[in-house]
Amino acid sequence: MSQQDPLQLCKDLLIQIDQELDQNAESLRIKYLGKNGLFKNVSALIKNVPNEQKKAFGQELNQLKNKLENKIADLESQQKQTKEKIDLTLPGKKHQVGHIHPISQAIEEISQIFEKIGFNRVRYPEVDWDYYVFEALNMPKNHPARDEWETFFVDTQPDPKMGKMVMTTHTSNGQVREMERLKSKPPIRMINVARTYRRQSDATHTQMFHQFEGLVIDKGINIQHLKGTLDYFAESFYGPGTKSRIRPFHFKFTEPSFEVDFSCHICGGTGKNCRFCKSGWHEVGGAGMVHPNVLKAGGIDPDIYTGFAFGWGVERTYTLKKGLNIDDIRLFYSGNLEFLEQF
Ligand code: PHE
Repeated sequence: MSQQDPLQLCKDLLIQIDQELDQNAESLRIKYLGKNGLFKNVSALIKNVPNEQKKAFGQELNQLKNKLENKIADLESQQKQTKEKIDLTLPGKKHQVGHIHPISQAIEEISQIFEKIGFNRVRYPEVDWDYYVFEALNMPKNHPARDEWETFFVDTQPDPKMGKMVMTTHTSNGQVREMERLKSKPPIRMINVARTYRRQSDATHTQMFHQFEGLVIDKGINIQHLKGTLDYFAESFYGPGTKSRIRPFHFKFTEPSFEVDFSCHICGGTGKNCRFCKSGWHEVGGAGMVHPNVLKAGGIDPDIYTGFAFGWGVERTYTLKKGLNIDDIRLFYSGNLEFLEQF
């Protein structure tokens, strides 16, 4: 070795390692830079170098060592990357897939049930004039019946004829609007589904909720048509054997008026030892025969035509479904994915 030019030997090492770069980085490190590695051999030659060249030789050695180290480090990171790229045993990344919100699913189902028997799905403003929400529905200004609807008023200039602007408290605002849309010409078979708003919030009430409203107007429409429609809905939505029941009630816009109950699917309507319903029935909403004053407000002659209407909350209707055990409807709007993913 002493015969050879030490600087040339240094350079040879760099050429040699270039030809071995297909090997494992760790084994190259041992071979070149290890305790008994090639670099050590070359650097030992420093003792043969004449004194005045020692400094230059030392610098050359340092550079060589750095170059070797860099090459091995590059190789190492390259090998790590390729390893990551081709590791077929790693589990794939799953994309989250969403679905339609349960209340939207319920709205779709309810609409289809009524569309099957000739109802026409419509939507009317969810922020509307006092006129459509109350006045045209036989509730003159300042009438105490309005108190039942805990109304949010919109802070805008009232209209001289239409009155104040309100957040719709029920979907009944669609009744006279639908009569107007059809130029007061029955037959009318409307299913109006929309958001509604009331000043309320507890386990069974949210400030924003949805209602659906049915309205049928034609010659000779009577309570039997209403009852038949309710029974049809009960069986279609809750399953065969579910019954409907109507009880006398009071609304200004229907006469006579009823509250509507559906039989409980847990106890089959018997109420015996049932913790879900107590009486065998669940109250869901209101209904009745359209008041003559409402027909008149929609330009329809009450001496020729009669009609029925019904309306109630989508959320409540939905939570009574078989197999759902939801005791707090606020959960629907909580944004809680663990809850929503169940539907
Ligand atoms: N709008 C009434 C409510 O929100 C329900 C109803 C609709 C009653 C149609 C009679 C007829 O309580």
